Amino acid sequence: MVMILLPLFMLILLIGPLRSQDVEMKNESQKIMTHACSLVICSPAQNGLPGRDGRDGRDGPRGEKGDPGLPGPAGRMGMRGSRGPAGAKGDNGTVGEPGPKGDIGPRGPPGPPGSPGPAGREGPAGMQGNVGPQGKPGPRGEAGPKGEMGAPGMEGSAGATGPPGLKGERGDPGARGVPGIAGIAGPPGPIGPQGPPGARGTPGPKGDRGAPGDKGEKGESGLPDITALRQQVAALQTQLQGLQSTLSQYKKVEMFPDGRSVGEKIFKTGGFEKTFAEAQQICRQAGGEMASPRSAAENAAVQQLAIAQNKNVFLGMTYTNGKFTYPTGQPLVYSNWAPGEPNNDSGAEQCVELYTNGKWNDKKCGENRLVVCEF
Ligand code: GLC
Ligand code: CA
Repeated sequence: MVMILLPLFMLILLIGPLRSQDVEMKNESQKIMTHACSLVICSPAQNGLPGRDGRDGRDGPRGEKGDPGLPGPAGRMGMRGSRGPAGAKGDNGTVGEPGPKGDIGPRGPPGPPGSPGPAGREGPAGMQGNVGPQGKPGPRGEAGPKGEMGAPGMEGSAGATGPPGLKGERGDPGARGVPGIAGIAGPPGPIGPQGPPGARGTPGPKGDRGAPGDKGEKGESGLPDITALRQQVAALQTQLQGLQSTLSQYKKVEMFPDGRSVGEKIFKTGGFEKTFAEAQQICRQAGGEMASPRSAAENAAVQQLAIAQNKNVFLGMTYTNGKFTYPTGQPLVYSNWAPGEPNNDSGAEQCVELYTNGKWNDKKCGENRLVVCEF
């Protein structure tokens, strides 16, 4: 007990100012000490009269150490101890369930290039290419032969007053002069025969100017100024080059993407399908005619438009008067019939279609086919 109480006392003294709870605890300790004292001093009373008070006896021997008292109240919780050393590693837990599938990772770097495969089979022959661009103008030609004489020019304006005319021809003889003065009278003779006429008299004064003669023929025109002509030709050549360049540009624009040009001819598709009669009207209204290829090159150009649109084309030719003819009525100069065509299937095929492989088939005119016009 003392072992327990003594440190408690010391602790209380050390803490300093006591709180109410601490005071109660101190009193409790004192009570316990008082009880210990009465155990030593007091003894039970005897029967009979009480004797005189004896002298104070000497302190008896120290009693046996008492039984341990009841355990005191639990002390205040001590200060938190310092952190203990880390415990031994626990056993592994049981295997957990698989987690949800993760997001797709970033794309990996491209793998090394594979080894080249075996060479493929040779492909089919390619389509005929577009007609090439217009060539450069050729070298200047040699001077041509002299042209024929041109038509007569317009009548020129009246010329300046000319120089004085040549002296006129001698005029007609003037009128007979007045008779001369009579001679001196001779001696009177017999009356002779009449004498000869007298000497010619002096010429009379110049007569009046005659009437003007008829108008002469028109004279030749003067020579043109060759230097001025050269300048005019040079200016025209410059203008012509500019026009050619602009025209070439416009042609390219016009051919893209639905036109094809072969020589002088231009094919162009509307990109839509119509019956033969409708297609014919559309092409003519546009100032052209339905495509009527007259050579392998022209046929290839129309074929390219068929391929680009993936549609069969109605051509301009028809079965007329027992044969296939152009819209002009002339017979064909070129054809590219598919094998077994024309077969006039069901006896009703008067028109011609061009397949995307370029071959021709006679076909009913009421079908709808790609409209391609030529200009
Ligand atoms: C088949 C025939 C062809 C005929 C067409 C009629 O394609 O080969 O000749 O014009 O049928 O639809
Ligand atoms: Ca046919």
